[in-house]
Amino acid sequence: MAIVTIRLKGVDYKVDTDSDEPMMQQLQEQGAEIVAACNGAGICQTCSFKPVEGEFTEKTQTEEMMDLPEPERLACQCKPKSDGEIEMIY
Ligand code: FES
Repeated sequence: MAIVTIRLKGVDYKVDTDSDEPMMQQLQEQGAEIVAACNGAGICQTCSFKPVEGEFTEKTQTEEMMDLPEPERLACQCKPKSDGEIEMIY
């Protein structure tokens, strides 16, 4: 089990890189406010974020299909691979 730290709006959250839960759900469970209109189904894009620091898992097929502007990612579709910092788009 690897626990990394993800900073969002100046607050540090712990994320388990081995968990089945994507980063978004793990951050929400710790009180992070993330708009998730589709509840993690990968269709609304309201959970999109810009990585500021750190490494994240490869883009999923869902993310590839979304054609997000680089370097945006979907928090409900990925997990961090290292400590990092993110900036939500919405
Ligand atoms: S919560 Fe809708 S795409 Fe992530």
